[in-house]
Amino acid sequence: MDAVTDYVHMSRDRYIAELTEYLAIPSISALPSHADDVVRCAHWTADELGRVGLENVRLIETAGHPVVYADWLHAPEAPTILLYGHYDVQPVDPLDEWTSPPFKATVREGEIYARGAADDKGQIFMHFKAVEAWLKQVGRLPVNMKFILEGEEEIGSRHLDGFTREHQAELAADVLVISDTPMFGRGVPSICYGLRGLAYFQIDLRGTNSDLHSGSFGGVVANPGFVLAQILSQMKDRSGRVKIPGFYDDVRSLRDEERAVFAELPFNERQYRTELGAPKLAGERNYTTLERLWARPTFEVNGLQAGFTGDGAKTVIPAVAMAKVSMRLVPEQDPDTIAGLFETYLRKVTPKTVELTVSRLHGGKPWMTNFDNPFVQAAARAIERGFGQAPVFNREGGSIPVVSTFQEVLGLPTVLFGIGLPDENAHAPNEKLDLGNFHNGVIASTALYAEIAGVEF
Ligand code: BES
Ligand code: MN
Ligand code: MN
Repeated sequence: MDAVTDYVHMSRDRYIAELTEYLAIPSISALPSHADDVVRCAHWTADELGRVGLENVRLIETAGHPVVYADWLHAPEAPTILLYGHYDVQPVDPLDEWTSPPFKATVREGEIYARGAADDKGQIFMHFKAVEAWLKQVGRLPVNMKFILEGEEEIGSRHLDGFTREHQAELAADVLVISDTPMFGRGVPSICYGLRGLAYFQIDLRGTNSDLHSGSFGGVVANPGFVLAQILSQMKDRSGRVKIPGFYDDVRSLRDEERAVFAELPFNERQYRTELGAPKLAGERNYTTLERLWARPTFEVNGLQAGFTGDGAKTVIPAVAMAKVSMRLVPEQDPDTIAGLFETYLRKVTPKTVELTVSRLHGGKPWMTNFDNPFVQAAARAIERGFGQAPVFNREGGSIPVVSTFQEVLGLPTVLFGIGLPDENAHAPNEKLDLGNFHNGVIASTALYAEIAGVEF
């Protein structure tokens, strides 16, 4: 479809200008001080969906941030794509690590730097532009499309489960498409067929009513900072195995064929380690790096707090200590089951000398699909159209909890059509999106709609 492709090529500079505007809105869902910006971003998103020619554009209120909906349903014979993404972004701290301001998008060496460039505004914007190219040039889409864009993905999609159940009929579709993952590597486009799940907790320990002089009281009361370290040290053994009883019971073991597929991928472990700046890689014994990343569960400490952390020394026994911990899960682990096992074990290894409070934050189920499903194959052909080369098939270590919700509630197969990169710095300073990949991604997306419809493109 030359008219569509030509239009995309002609629009390159305009895309960057518009995306810059989108990226300027600090839609940080985690910070209450940015609630107005999140709403403003929802409006910008809705206006944009209208501008590109989608219909029935709506902001749907939830108990949290609004969901943006739009559709185009004039292809009665064709399948319907439900396109999900998120317009919220992660906080930007540490701010002084950014080379250019996080909400002033800046192009350097073919990459656009800004919070949300890859995760996920840049990737949903790619679909806005693909739809625009079809509607402006052809006057119609080859498929029916429903867009559902949320503002709470980065805080665990709190209200999307309820939302999906409430709007089940309106969301009916044939396939779910999500562009919110990195591709395997620079120059190695991929289709992702598996995601890990997540179970996230906060652990609070209290030893005494107040901080204490460590000379006057040291040796007679428990130190929550030290107890916390002892507790955490019992979560994994030296070979990297999680020690929570029953933790591995439901883990689907890797098939030899899948291990062989992983081993074929162009992965340079040494380069990977060097780029990360890690003195040595670590992980569960008897698994390769990609196996550890994609097919094995983990236990991580995400944050720690106790006692005096300022300059100099202060002789104190802290009254409290806190840790944020999370587990990445793989098929068939269930976050609720794991939560139960974790809490039981945590209570068992916590001594009576401290008071324990454990709170469950967010979570989500792991997900995996067969990559011989016809939608995945259609996506692979579309990637080839946009990138000039066939994609590899990979899994990912991250989580998109709504994938399994959509699968369960709406019965939808999913295609993960991501065009980010492993070094995109998502959730970190200097987040970026490669503009070449973005551009190829717009063309690939225009092709995806045709491939899913099964029409010539
Ligand atoms: N886009 C990511 C998910 C992702 C990242 C998938 C890397 C594959 C590879 C998404 O925005 C995200 O950050 N998800 C959270 C989920 C959590 C908040 C429930 C995650 O994975 O930590
Ligand atoms: Mn994302
Ligand atoms: Mn994210």
